Amino acid sequence: MKASILKGINQALVFEETSSPVPEADEVVVKVKAAALNHRDVWIQKGQYAGLVFPIILGSDGSGIVSASGSEANKHLIGKEVIINPSLNWGENPRVQAKDYIILGLPKNGCLAEEVSIPARLVHEKPSHLSFEQAAALPLAGLTAYRAAMVRAAIKPGETVLVTGAGGGVALFCIQYAVAQGCKVFVTSGSNEKIEKAMALGAIGGVNYKNEDWHKALVKISGGFDATIDSACGDNFAKLADMAKPGGRIAFYGATLGAFNSGVPAKIFWKQLDILGSTMGNDEEFKAMLEFVNKHKIFPVVDEVFPLANAEEAMRKMDEGKQFGKIVLNIE
Ligand SMILES: NC(=O)c1ccc[n+]([C@@H]2O[C@H](COP(=O)([O-])OP(=O)(O)OC[C@H]3O[C@@H](n4cnc5c(N)ncnc54)[C@H](OP(=O)(O)O)[C@@H]3O)[C@@H](O)[C@H]2O)c1
Repeated sequence: MKASILKGINQALVFEETSSPVPEADEVVVKVKAAALNHRDVWIQKGQYAGLVFPIILGSDGSGIVSASGSEANKHLIGKEVIINPSLNWGENPRVQAKDYIILGLPKNGCLAEEVSIPARLVHEKPSHLSFEQAAALPLAGLTAYRAAMVRAAIKPGETVLVTGAGGGVALFCIQYAVAQGCKVFVTSGSNEKIEKAMALGAIGGVNYKNEDWHKALVKISGGFDATIDSACGDNFAKLADMAKPGGRIAFYGATLGAFNSGVPAKIFWKQLDILGSTMGNDEEFKAMLEFVNKHKIFPVVDEVFPLANAEEAMRKMDEGKQFGKIVLNIE
């Protein structure tokens, strides 16, 4: 099969022939129709991710058609149109993942390939309102957003919700879920154009985080937030606590701007805030996410579709942060 392969830190992806995966007894092989990038793939390429192994086929997200099975028991899946849950070995505890938890695409070969092998219990029927490309955009970001917004921050109808960094893959799902949930949604972004696009998806308003005193402007237009979903952290995190209403929740799933070195702890305990770390999601949450997406007919926002042979170009686009939504690879 052909695959896009990363052979070392800071190396370009190489599109070349490699051996097809052989499924374990509990696995099926999916003939990948479309895959999608996540910022994780860029962190791995830069060597800024734990547990690096090379060569590796990146890509946690994929949709396609089941083409083979490692056992008789799963042969009935052959021919089914599926999307893949990239959360491998979550384990028994719904609250937190097990020690041997991994995400598809490192250390197990991922979806930037014509075929991927995956435990049969992690393939799910592709939502019928989505194309393969739209479906490939959903798994990792859609799941992360579901747990962070719907489970950890537990956003409720009528609440005022802030989603930071509106252009991000996960952030966009947070916006779409919060709108579908009947929340009043506000955003930040480093681009005014992305704020306008978020408003076209149902956000009420937003502020550019590059502006001075952006957080004060945001409180003025929103009245403060019951819940905030963030992936930037850094020194801006203190401002999220400032903007929270008493009793508010702040969930975060990434740290694009690094550690939080500032902030007044009293603001957190006096306002009775909940600070909630969140990562990916368990198998039940993946199913609940699919139900929610099917029920509300949510369409993932796809920024651009590249052929798999041009995966390196797609990676550079994500690294530059120019995208609004998911960057998808078409595998024909
Ligand atoms: N823990 C998990 O399970 C999990 C899962 C997925 C992702 N993540 C992490 O979450 C982060 C986002 O991932 P992604 O795949 O959605 O990335 P992405 O699509 O590349 O998006 C990058 C995001 O960073 C935002 N950003 C950049 N500078 C910012 C700033 N100064 N303030 C606020 N936001 C800023 C961008 O907002 P604008 O473009 O609007 O400016 C955009 O939302 C990454 O750090 C990733 O590793 C963690």
